[in-house]
Amino acid sequence: MARILQVQDPETIRLAVEALGRGEPVAMPTETVYGLAADATNPAAITAIYEAKGRPRFNPLIAHVSDLEMARMHALLSPLAERLAETFWPGPLTLVLPLKTDGGIHELATAGLATVGLRVPQGYARSLIRAFGRPLAAPSANRSGRISPTTASHVAEDLKDRIDLVLDGGPCTVGVESTIIAVDGDTLTLLRPGGVPVEAIEEAAHVKVRRNDSAESGIIAPGMMRSHYAPEARLRLNAVDVRPGEALIRYGGKVLEGEDQASWARDLSPTADLREAASNLFSFLKQADGNNRAGIAVAPIPSEGLGEAINDRLSRAAAPRE
Ligand code: TXA
Ligand code: MG
Repeated sequence: MARILQVQDPETIRLAVEALGRGEPVAMPTETVYGLAADATNPAAITAIYEAKGRPRFNPLIAHVSDLEMARMHALLSPLAERLAETFWPGPLTLVLPLKTDGGIHELATAGLATVGLRVPQGYARSLIRAFGRPLAAPSANRSGRISPTTASHVAEDLKDRIDLVLDGGPCTVGVESTIIAVDGDTLTLLRPGGVPVEAIEEAAHVKVRRNDSAESGIIAPGMMRSHYAPEARLRLNAVDVRPGEALIRYGGKVLEGEDQASWARDLSPTADLREAASNLFSFLKQADGNNRAGIAVAPIPSEGLGEAINDRLSRAAAPRE
């Protein structure tokens, strides 16, 4: 079993930096989900991430940097990219930008693309990058195909002895992964909805964000397979009633018909706060999944603001398995 170290312990950062220096992946808390971090400049370290996750092939990884200055060493930022970075970093926004190949990020981290996804995370992850001094490549710290972890114990239960260290910074505050935006000069394309609502990006950018139509734009986030967040149980979305034995994920305090037949029920946010709902999403899916052969009924969730990311993850979780 992986060792869980508390981030409050002053020894933790030293142990984590040493492990990263040896090329070992370390699970770290970010405001979105826990990431499995490794030195983005070290090919063996990046390979170790893929091995631990059991990811079948190399997808490009987000490189986490400590600040705008480190970002500029590894990518070309257009004036619009600079504006978005200044507005939303540190925070749950990943910018896909033209890669500077002399910056040192290894091509295994970018899957050989001419672009790199960069983000400055909030909190302990940022301190860790500062202490390490190099960008950290980090996908979510789960086995391939599983739900992204929002607590240290979820990471440890899922990855078991595939990794050595999990840094415990408590539950993630945002709870869904970062919004991914490709920036091409002054054109913005949404590659994945996430922790920053698209509306907020458009307001800061003063331009419309293009919805990704991969056929048209040719840009895709290769990791966005349809059945990516797969619980064992079947999901029934936009449910208006509950069938016998189903687990129920409610929203906004609304009672559903047949609720008394549910085997388990929780409300993502009784007060209909989408932030609260996002932060509870993955942990509720995991809890509902554990003991419900009859499936999971999920009440309708509004699609504005963070609701776009929540509905995106739910529809992937409900998609037929590949
Ligand atoms: O919130 C997050 O983004 C979390 C935390 C740990 O930071 N990370 C995360 O990483 O969700 P991951 O690997 O699960 O998802 C990264 C996504 C993938 O879909 C990948 O295809 C896309 O980002 N991506 C990364 N670099 C890209 C690039 N250069 N072009 C297009 N898509 C890229
Ligand atoms: Mg993931």
